[in-house]
Amino acid sequence: MLFQRVKPLDKILETAEKKSLTRQLGALQLTLLGIGAIIGTGIFVLTAAAAQKAGPGMMWSFVIAGAVCAVAALCYSEIASMVPVSGSAYTYTYAVMGELLAWMVGWALILEYAVAASAVSVGWSGYFMGLVKSATGFELPAALASGPAWAFKNGLPHVDFSHGVFNLPAVVIALGVTWLLMIGTTESARVNAILVAIKIAALTAFIALTLPVINGAHFEPFAPNGWFGNGNGSGLGIVGAAASIFFAYVGFDAVSTAAEETRNPQRNVPIGLIGSLGVCTVFYLLVAAGAVGVIGAQPTAPGVQPGSPEFVAQCQALLAQGQEPLVCSKEALAHVLRMMHHERIGDLVGLAANLALPSVILMMLYGQTRIFFVMARDGLLPEKLADVHPKWKTPHKVTLLTGLFVAIAAALFPVGQLADISNSGTLFAFFMVAVAVLILRVKDPNRHRPFRTPLVWIVAPLAAAGTIFLYVNLPFEAKMVLPVWGGIGLLLYFLYGYRKSHLARGVVEVPEADTNAPPKPVPPIQD
Ligand code: ALA
Repeated sequence: MLFQRVKPLDKILETAEKKSLTRQLGALQLTLLGIGAIIGTGIFVLTAAAAQKAGPGMMWSFVIAGAVCAVAALCYSEIASMVPVSGSAYTYTYAVMGELLAWMVGWALILEYAVAASAVSVGWSGYFMGLVKSATGFELPAALASGPAWAFKNGLPHVDFSHGVFNLPAVVIALGVTWLLMIGTTESARVNAILVAIKIAALTAFIALTLPVINGAHFEPFAPNGWFGNGNGSGLGIVGAAASIFFAYVGFDAVSTAAEETRNPQRNVPIGLIGSLGVCTVFYLLVAAGAVGVIGAQPTAPGVQPGSPEFVAQCQALLAQGQEPLVCSKEALAHVLRMMHHERIGDLVGLAANLALPSVILMMLYGQTRIFFVMARDGLLPEKLADVHPKWKTPHKVTLLTGLFVAIAAALFPVGQLADISNSGTLFAFFMVAVAVLILRVKDPNRHRPFRTPLVWIVAPLAAAGTIFLYVNLPFEAKMVLPVWGGIGLLLYFLYGYRKSHLARGVVEVPEADTNAPPKPVPPIQD
């Protein structure tokens, strides 16, 4: 019965037209928004964690994660161009698989966007403190520079406050970006375009300086933890690193989330998605090759998870001996350049990360607030949350709420774990979209599709299989977060959304009413 609470696509499009956000973004802006959301903590910070898991073999990790994202992006593009409204995977699932699963996807997307925003805030904090130290010698007390370390011991969560308590810089940046979003999307998109340029310039400088001096010997041994670490599902090895570094690609779907604010979304959304993903993939491979080739990327010891108490102890011992391996750095790219005695340029790359990572936080928060906005519009969350500010024209209430959540998570968790948790939610959402594309091809074959996924019966199953493959190779704790979070979500749905949803109250007609009517093509939206 529940699975029949499906929102018809035509109704989704109508609802969106009635209470919609202003359409103001074009194709180039959208691609820039995509790059702005994609390049961030993944390449600037998590390169070190990927090296700890895979060694130089992380080159393959980037390829594997990129390939899964490419097939997922092709599925996203079809469905995003068909249903050009805010809400991303959540809206698509509502149309295809019904309210319950849609709620679950929306709930999982909180992990993707909000927790990713927290992860990037923590990444920013590492670069910021690195730059402040380099420029002034000042260091925050360790207790305020990072959050506590979390680990599972005998199946129970264990919090270790010995290396940090509260990540103050991460909280400041998360709240600052929240304010930027609250006062208006236009300014935010413009600021974002400048920051994307800075980010591209920094990565280009890194590549130009490192690639010519690559030392082939640094690629040996190539895969110290093999493909799967000490067994499938350990979260280590080349595949384990792929599951983590997948984070570096997350964000391209934020483009589809912005569809409701895009002019001619049928054309511009697929361009934004595929364009931004392609640009980022090329950069990542070149940057990874440069980092490995210049200072090497061997783990502190095989089989040791980055961020674990064991790992922290090993890093401290290595630093005491005057060694500064890539895997121990909180500001990987700046560190590589400093090791090459390009201190100034290292600082500049650090500065670029400092200026640019907020644009990633911005996109993540933006995606999150728009998903909440649509869920509230559907009655699955309190409708007051969907209020649009009369002057700023933004859903300011939900933005503030999200920002507070993001800041608290950023204060209390380390970057690698936040990234892995975020990945578990993202992989679930991508899986659902891949399945939704296939279901829609069968259920609604005649609907106009401005973008058709090529070889869909190969590409979509590959995307579904790829997301499952990466999910099972996440570390245990990150894998467990999804079912636990999902359980809380189910409870909330039956306590609130089940009764309050517009569909449940008959505000939107049920699809059975128009099964015989020919499907309307998606109405063209004028520029
Ligand atoms: N892809 C984004 C990043 O790496 C989330 O920061």
